[in-house]
This record gives sequence, structure tokens and C-alpha cells, in this order.
Amino acid sequence: MASPVKTLTTLAEEKTLESSFVRDEDERPKVAYNEFSDEIPVISIAGIDEVDGRRGEICNKIVEACENWGIFQIVDHGVDPKLVSKMTLLAKEFFAMPPEEKLRFDMSGGKKGGFIVSSHLQGESVRDWREMVTYFSYPIKERDYKRWPDTPKEWRAVTEEYSEKVMNLACKLLEVLSEAMGLERDALTKACVDMDQKVVINYYPKCPQPDLTLGLKRHTDPGTITLLLQDHVGGLQATNDNGKTWITVQPIQGAFVVNLGDHGHYLSNGRFKNADHQAVVNSNYSRLSIATFQNPAPNATVYPLKIREGEKPVLEEPITFAEMYRRKMSKDLELARMKKLAKEKQLQDIENAKKLETKPLKEILA
Ligand code: OGA
Ligand code: NI
Repeated sequence: MASPVKTLTTLAEEKTLESSFVRDEDERPKVAYNEFSDEIPVISIAGIDEVDGRRGEICNKIVEACENWGIFQIVDHGVDPKLVSKMTLLAKEFFAMPPEEKLRFDMSGGKKGGFIVSSHLQGESVRDWREMVTYFSYPIKERDYKRWPDTPKEWRAVTEEYSEKVMNLACKLLEVLSEAMGLERDALTKACVDMDQKVVINYYPKCPQPDLTLGLKRHTDPGTITLLLQDHVGGLQATNDNGKTWITVQPIQGAFVVNLGDHGHYLSNGRFKNADHQAVVNSNYSRLSIATFQNPAPNATVYPLKIREGEKPVLEEPITFAEMYRRKMSKDLELARMKKLAKEKQLQDIENAKKLETKPLKEILA
């Protein structure tokens, strides 16, 4: 009999965690998935277009959050809650389908969009405890609907509408951030040349041993900004002291978590932080999140838009976004390689020490 196809939903039934998901101790969760913090500001953006009204106040709050964390949550954002709940419901239906159905959209081997377990990135040594579906929604002319899931039936129309509404909201936020940097309103969208959008739907099944693993390992998003929708379970964590302490972001129904990415960080010359974050899992509930990544075009130039007096540029020279991404990925791979080498050396040292212990003294001294 052919062995059943394994997705995470099948592995989640097992009593112990398969070893490919077990992380080194220093990478494991330090704070519980449901120990919520209120440190990340929740900002109502009602009235964001009223130039003589709330706009200034909203702008100040966003700037403060970007300087401290690179993360904030927005409510009263105008995206129809019905659309949001439809999107969430259909996504849940997708992940509840049997493995063969989901694997019809298998994106392994570098396909642009579809379904995959853990990650589409190459060279990951430990796997993430998640399943994901991703589709590339902008620029519209590059959409490849063959790589978009076609079940549940209404999903495609809903995802199209969702993409458009989130794109509009993201552009509004980029205007505020441009003004905050003392630039024209359209400075950031212009710097993106032709804005790219990618939607990633993350599904984190219940996990038998959540303390040993992560749903999504620590990272910063590469792009300009990310708008993340999360359900009520909780699991998104952030650090603003390089991993010494972590907080779990409080889930708020209908809110978007906005993360500043590397591109946004560089364009602000480092004034705005790129959100340093990860997702943890738990053994009580599965969790769903929908991340919409707003990225510049691959050939867009990455360089600070304004360098304030007394500041040094955070980049030596202007590079393209594609090059920025390439450097980020190769740095990550290099760090993983160094870590692996260090671990192997440590194991070898222990082995050698053991050998030494069991040798008779006269052999050691000889
Ligand atoms: C991401 C991400 C966090 C989450 O998809 O880049 O950071 O809570 N997701 O799912
Ligand atoms: Ni992220």
C-alpha cells in the first residue's frame, strides 16, 4: 500500500514532535502564545484623510510605533468585516481539505504560488510548524491564476477583492509614513515603482510539543510593509532588543497588525525599525493568519529617501530590491551554516573529551 501523503494536519495527530521540527534551545519560544502584551499600540485610523482633523494625531502615533517596534495595530480601517470573515472562513475550509486536494497546488520546486508545508525557502535546516498557501496578486498583469487555489469555489473572487482592499489600505499607510519622513505623500509608493503584492495564508495546526518548535522562525519581512490579519488564538511575537525579551501581540478582532519590513527600514535610513518577529504554536488550538506583503518592484532602488543632518546612510550604495533580497537570503544561509558548524564542533569536542576520560592515564601521558 502506498504510504499516505503527509501534510502537517496528519503529523499533528502524533504524540511527539517529529525531529525535523525540533529547534535548538536558543531558538525555542520564551513566552507563552497566550501571554498577551499591550505594548504594541492599537491605533484607530478613522479620519485619516481629514488633513485638519485626526490625520496629524494618527501620524504621530504611527511614527512613534515605527521608531520603537516597527509594529502597530490598526482598527477602524474601513476594510469590510464581512469580507475579512469570508476570507478567513474559506481559508479554513481550504486547510481542512484532505492532503491530496491541497497538494494539487503543491509549490515545491520553486513554483510561483500554491500550497506547501513549512516553507518555500531553500536550505532551511529545521522546519516550521505551518502549512501555507500563497498567491501573487500585484502587479495585476503578472497574475497567474493557475497557481491560485480554485477550491473552495468562491475563494478566488474573495481573494481578488481582499487583495484590492488591502492594497488601497496599504497605500494610505505609505502616504502617512512618507509625510512622517518629511517627504511628499507619494514618496514611498513612487520608491516602489510598481507595487508588488503577495498574500500568504498561514495555517498552524495544534502541535504535540509546542515548546520545542516554532510556527514561523524569527525573521524580518523583506518588503515595505506587511498587513497581517490574525485570529483570536495568538502566537505572533516580537522583540525590540535583539531577541533578549519577547512579547506576544494581543489579537484584536478585525484589526490588522502592520509590520515594517527591511525596505521600509532602509528608506527611512533606519529611523523606522524593521519588525523582528516570529510565530509560536500551541497544543490547544490551530491558528490562522493572513499576511499581505507590500513589496517594491524587483528593480526598484533601495536607498534612504532622506538622510537627516548628522546621520550616516544605513546603506553604502543604492542597490535594487532584488539584490537586497539576495543578500538577505545569503546572509541567512551563512548564519545557519556557521551555527551548524559550531554545533558539530561542540559535539566533536564532547566526543573527544569522552574518549579522553575512558583512556588509561598512562596512554594520555605517553
Ligand atoms: C509572516 C509572519 C506571523 C504570523 O507570514 O511573515 O510573520 O503570526 N506571520 O503568522
Ligand atoms: Ni513576517
